[in-house]
Amino acid sequence: MARVKYFKQWKIDTVYTLGNIILTMRSIIMGCITFHDITEYNWRIASNIKPSEEQKNSVADGLGIIALAYVNRDKNAQCWAIYADAEMVGLMLVEDLIEEPSCYHLHEFLIDRNQQKKGYGTAAIKRLQDSLANERKFPRIEVCVHRDNKNARAFYDKSGFVENDFIDESCPWNVMYVYTFPERA
Ligand SMILES: CC(C)(COP(=O)(O)OP(=O)(O)OC[C@H]1O[C@@H](n2cnc3c(N)ncnc32)[C@H](O)[C@@H]1OP(=O)(O)O)[C@@H](O)C(=O)NCCC(=O)NCCS
Repeated sequence: MARVKYFKQWKIDTVYTLGNIILTMRSIIMGCITFHDITEYNWRIASNIKPSEEQKNSVADGLGIIALAYVNRDKNAQCWAIYADAEMVGLMLVEDLIEEPSCYHLHEFLIDRNQQKKGYGTAAIKRLQDSLANERKFPRIEVCVHRDNKNARAFYDKSGFVENDFIDESCPWNVMYVYTFPERA
C-alpha cells in the first residue's frame, strides 16, 4: 500500500517537474514574454501582482512598485508589466542612476507569487538585459537584493549578474549585483 502511494507521489512529482521544464523552455525559446506600459486599462491587474508571504518583508508589491515609479519619475523611472502571452505575470521598475558609476538601476523586479518558478523571471530578465544592452545609455545594470533573499540571489547569479562588495549605508542589509553588457560584436 505504502509503495503504491509512493509511486503515485513520484508520478505527480515527475509530471509537475516536466510541466515546469516545458513551461520554462516555452517561455525562453518562444520568447512569449513581452513588456507593456501600465495604463488605465491594466493598472488594476498590476496593483494585484503580489509577492509570497515570506517575500513580503523584502520586496514591494504591485501597488508599491507603481507608487515608486511615480516618486522616482525624476530618475526616468520606467515601470513595465511583464506578460506571458496575454496574462500579466509580473512587474519591473528600471531607473537611471546618473551618479558615477552610472548605470540602469533595476529598482524592483517581481513575478507574481502564483507565477513563480515557471521560468518567467528568467525569460523576462533576459529580455530586459538584451533590450537595455541594445539601448546602452549606461554600461551596466545594478540591482540591490536583501541579503536573506536567497532565491533572488540565486536567480541573479544564474542570470549573469555578479555580486560586488558595495554596501549602501542607507540599506546595509542589501547586497549589490551587477550585470555588465557584453562587448558589441
Ligand atoms: C526572484 C524572482 C524574480 C524569480 O522569478 P521566477 O520566475 O520565480 O524565476 P524562474 O522560474 O525563472 O527561476 C530561475 C531561478 O531562480 C531561482 N529561484 C526562483 N524562485 C525560487 C524558489 N522559490 N526557490 C528556489 N529557487 C528559486 C532558482 O535558482 C531558479 O532556477 P532553477 O529553477 O533552475 O532552480 C521571483 O522569485 C520573485 O519575484 N521574487 C520576489 C521578488 C524579488 O525577490 N525580486 C528580486 C529583488 S528586486
